[in-house]
Amino acid sequence: MRARMWSLRHVLTLSLAAGRLSGQGTERLALRPPMGFNTWNKFQCNVSDQLVRGMADAMVASGMKEAGYQYVVIDDCWQVARDANGRIVADPERFPLGMKALADYVHDRGLKFGLYTDIGPKTCAGRPGSSGHFDLDAKSYAAWGVDYIKVDWCHADSLIAPAQYARFRQALQRSGRPIVLSICEWGLNQPWDWGPKVGHLWRVTDDIEDNWRSLVWIVNSAAAHHGAAGPGHWNDPDMLEVGNGGMTAEEYKTHFSLWAIMAAPLIAGNDLRTMSPSTSEILLNREVIAVDQDPLGVQGRIVIDRGNGSQVWMKPLQDGGRAVALVNFRSDTAGVSVRWKEIGLPAGPASVRDLWAHKDLGSHEDRGTDFGTRLEMKVPPHGVVMLRVRAAP
Ligand code: GLA
Repeated sequence: MRARMWSLRHVLTLSLAAGRLSGQGTERLALRPPMGFNTWNKFQCNVSDQLVRGMADAMVASGMKEAGYQYVVIDDCWQVARDANGRIVADPERFPLGMKALADYVHDRGLKFGLYTDIGPKTCAGRPGSSGHFDLDAKSYAAWGVDYIKVDWCHADSLIAPAQYARFRQALQRSGRPIVLSICEWGLNQPWDWGPKVGHLWRVTDDIEDNWRSLVWIVNSAAAHHGAAGPGHWNDPDMLEVGNGGMTAEEYKTHFSLWAIMAAPLIAGNDLRTMSPSTSEILLNREVIAVDQDPLGVQGRIVIDRGNGSQVWMKPLQDGGRAVALVNFRSDTAGVSVRWKEIGLPAGPASVRDLWAHKDLGSHEDRGTDFGTRLEMKVPPHGVVMLRVRAAP
């Protein structure tokens, strides 16, 4: 029995791997965590052709495109029905020119276009889902020029998630167009175990909310699965709330820093057309984005939890350096310290750069002795100090 179970698992693994290899290069689609914009957090069902064109324009005009943001994704509520042939139909009032024309507009700006569907018969907002129509829907996406599809899990709880998403992926592969598959089953079926072979990113929790409590809860859940992430397959702690108004600028900085150190997809969820200077400073911090997008593709993890509301996070980088986030979850200012050995660097001098101050802090020597040589920084309430540390050659 044991042998049989092993061989079934083996066969599943092999067939998923084979699917991956025959996927028109889809395994190379998300070698770095996807970056872009999604309509849901700010606009929910209030989506339209005009809104999406505005976001594509703003992504270019704001400098986000140049900073690496790429996908413009319409979440739930773009779809209204199926036609006589079973094909999915976009809302003709909100998208009067159709999805192909909108995708063309986005592509003409050098960006990529994404949509949303659901494994079950209906989406979470009650629109038609993809159940029974995986191939037909994949064909429509390919014909329209869709580059990214987020696939939700509402009305699907009696189904087997890995098998359903693997079937969806196969349908995408048969469509002939390379399309990023964003799995959204909220971490209910241990997607970190099978997601890497099936999709490019998978949600690890229920939906984010625009408040500090939600952020802390998501970070704790996402941190546990760091081993599953790597080039082409990423844990998704959900879309960004930066700029939506429910948190302070300091909290949004912490949000963005932690997403970056977790190598999370950076999918903005705010109105890009009307960003405050503080919001654009956060979303456009290229030094923090570079940590997220580092080609080594390792998800950072908590290396020290001081148990008093402060943590040290570390992400190894391709140049041999370390991204380090000193995080203060408390509501008063705290000194948070780090030793080089805690971030996998040898005792001795190392150069330190502050990625929010955009300043070299010079060389700090951790002599490896117990007292006085650790690096300590003052971190504001609910705040972060984000550093790049490199051992001296
Ligand atoms: C679920 C998803 C959200 C969003 C909504 C749309 O809740 O987790 O991210 O897509 O559905 O209805």
